[in-house]
Amino acid sequence: MVDLGGQYKKIKPEVDKAIQEVMENTSFINGPSVHKFQKSLEDYLNVKHVIPCANGTDALQVALMALDLKPGDEVITTSFTFIATAEVIALLQLTPVLVDVDPDTFNIDPVAVEKAVTPKTRAIIPVHLFGQPADLHAMIMIAQKHNLYIIEDNAQAIGADYTCPESGNTKKAGTFGHIGCTSFFPSKNLGAFGDGGAIFTNSDELAEQMRVVVNHGMKVRYYHDYVGVNSRLDGIQAAVLDIKLKHLDEYAAARQKAAAYYNNAFANHPKIRTPVTAAGGTHVFHQYTLVLNNVDREGLMKHLADKGIASAVYYPVPLHLQKAYLDPRYKEGDFPVTEALSKSVISLPIHTELTEEIQKEITDAFLEFVG
Ligand SMILES: Cc1ncc(COP(=O)(O)O)c(C=O)c1O
Repeated sequence: MVDLGGQYKKIKPEVDKAIQEVMENTSFINGPSVHKFQKSLEDYLNVKHVIPCANGTDALQVALMALDLKPGDEVITTSFTFIATAEVIALLQLTPVLVDVDPDTFNIDPVAVEKAVTPKTRAIIPVHLFGQPADLHAMIMIAQKHNLYIIEDNAQAIGADYTCPESGNTKKAGTFGHIGCTSFFPSKNLGAFGDGGAIFTNSDELAEQMRVVVNHGMKVRYYHDYVGVNSRLDGIQAAVLDIKLKHLDEYAAARQKAAAYYNNAFANHPKIRTPVTAAGGTHVFHQYTLVLNNVDREGLMKHLADKGIASAVYYPVPLHLQKAYLDPRYKEGDFPVTEALSKSVISLPIHTELTEEIQKEITDAFLEFVG
């Protein structure tokens, strides 16, 4: 689905040098490369504070830990996402309240969010799924009306822009809510050579609190005022990320170009729905996801695999139907859009190294099966 080797080759001299530097000055933890990357990311996102951490799941957990929430408080999120989004809510003994998504963008449905608000609701976690921002304006309106926190799960959309329809201001996805979270998992748009994550905020208070949480709840060495976690981005990952951040916009452009090729090849096909980019946002295509209409998905995936072409289903089981998350509040049929998508979506390879020749092979093989 990705070609991390091809991407590495293009930046090998810079990356190797940066890694070598970290090894030579042995600043593996909290060293200059971490501080440099933190500053670079703050500048790129135009956000006041970036708190690097160990992975995207920790970023979400630390964000929730920094808010004064208590067990049983409700956090609204989507049923169509990677498990990490709901996992951290459940781990902290908060109550995940799941809602359905918009059929075009696959992002959290604002009408469903508004309906799900109760006196116990404290936060909303919109996920910018597959690389495009959720309807942030609607989220902010709901949050303001009900006095809720917004934590943006921006693991899949780093670098995407969103323009507020009211003010006309354009900012990076992940910087609209009280807190934004991202993942640097290697296959992400900004991927490390291992695990990594970051949290962003414009609030001094939340930033201070999150810096304490990621460091064992400690402000002064060996004095622990809070129960925290140990979640750090290591120096080698930060050095790699600082180099790759300089290329992030060009990586997004390569993904957008590849998406345009696919869109064109599949345009107006009665059995294939190509991705919709909503007005007001840019799509950085962490995934290129099609919706199939009346196509044998398993058969198609096998047909592609037989020709050496990867494909994947993100996500085959909605969160409310996952064994570990079964809950008497939810049953099959509650989130019809999510449930239909989980049965009909298919993602094709999308990355920075795709050529038109490779894409032609992929689209030819795809259309050969679909008809
Ligand atoms: C939407 C979403 N949230 C959270 C995560 C968790 O990130 P990580 O794998 O770095 O813990 C991921 C990625 O895996 C993700 O796609």
